[in-house]
Amino acid sequence: MKKTLVLTVDFQKPDMEKIRSAAHFIKEGGLVAFPTETVYGLGADALNPKAVLALFKAKRRPLDNPPIVHVSDAREVRRLVTEVPPEAEKLMKRFWPGPLTLIFRRSEIVPDVTVAGLDTIAIRMPRHNVALALIRESGCPIAAPSANLAGKPSPTSAKHVLHDLDGRIDVVLDAGPTSVGVESTVLDLMFDPPQILRPGGTPYETLQNILPRVILHPIALAEQKLQVQKARSPGMMHRHYAPEADLIVVEGQVPAVVNKVKELVDSYGRSGKKIGVLATDETVSEYKAFAVRSLGSRSDLAAIAKNLFRLLRELDSEDVDVIIAEGIPPKELGLAVMNRLRKASGYNIIKADGK
Ligand code: TXA
Ligand code: MG
Repeated sequence: MKKTLVLTVDFQKPDMEKIRSAAHFIKEGGLVAFPTETVYGLGADALNPKAVLALFKAKRRPLDNPPIVHVSDAREVRRLVTEVPPEAEKLMKRFWPGPLTLIFRRSEIVPDVTVAGLDTIAIRMPRHNVALALIRESGCPIAAPSANLAGKPSPTSAKHVLHDLDGRIDVVLDAGPTSVGVESTVLDLMFDPPQILRPGGTPYETLQNILPRVILHPIALAEQKLQVQKARSPGMMHRHYAPEADLIVVEGQVPAVVNKVKELVDSYGRSGKKIGVLATDETVSEYKAFAVRSLGSRSDLAAIAKNLFRLLRELDSEDVDVIIAEGIPPKELGLAVMNRLRKASGYNIIKADGK
């Protein structure tokens, strides 16, 4: 057990003394959790295999699930990859810094452990001054999966990071809650046509404007568990985002969803279970249960994305046995939200209108 140092910094103008002391740990092969615009990441020097191995251990992450490598400038991509395709240039210009991760063919300088033995590498440039300053001061690309224990909801605050990793990592840079709340979109350009492997902070519809050929891999919808050979990103097969409680997602037209959620609250209530409901502003007053929370308004998908992981963790801390969550339409940021909810439920999905 080590002592985890908490360094509080301003999210726009971080104190460079503190950034430098965090960067010192990265240079020495240590582990530093830091905020990005999406979720908190757990960082290690991506070119130091020992540090990356320690990263997997601290998170208890299976070694077949590679982290994303973070850079502070698009030019840093060059030495990490064999080639930058023209489409990647265009996307980096338009969407970096931001919540878009691109898959490239990896170069020789990248250690095997960093890419879990794959011949590709996932890279992004985060839109967050603390993350960018840390990468620059460390002088290396930073491998950073989300800073949670494997399988748990991703952390959107330093408190969540400490809940999972206190005593297992060297530093947490605390710059308050993250703004996007769901992870970056993972786009595979090694495939023709380019495919979204994980929907995230950059919506499919937005990518389509720049790259009309882009398609959604079936795994991005997370409607059901896919066979391993169909998943081109091994990590995407592992159970993810899951609270301690059982989670049920109810999907369909709003009135049918509300009726179905009420029915489930009643039947689980009769069996003596402690129930949490994840509703929306429009429906929250309909429910009576041990803990009822609103994700936000159905007309504000950014708010729903931002609140999702925090509320899953909050319901866990209330010790509920079952969480019943309303689904939302899988459009724009709603697709990322539904991907996380469906996976978190272990595909325990109920179609309220029978479709
Ligand atoms: O927003 C984010 O992306 C956050 C912040 C910290 O940047 N990071 C994050 O990392 O979500 P992580 O490691 O929790 O998720 C990375 C995802 C995994 O699903 C992994 O399987 C996939 O990216 N991935 C990594 N390398 C890959 C590769 N070479 N090919 C395909 N998928 C890859
Ligand atoms: Mg993760």
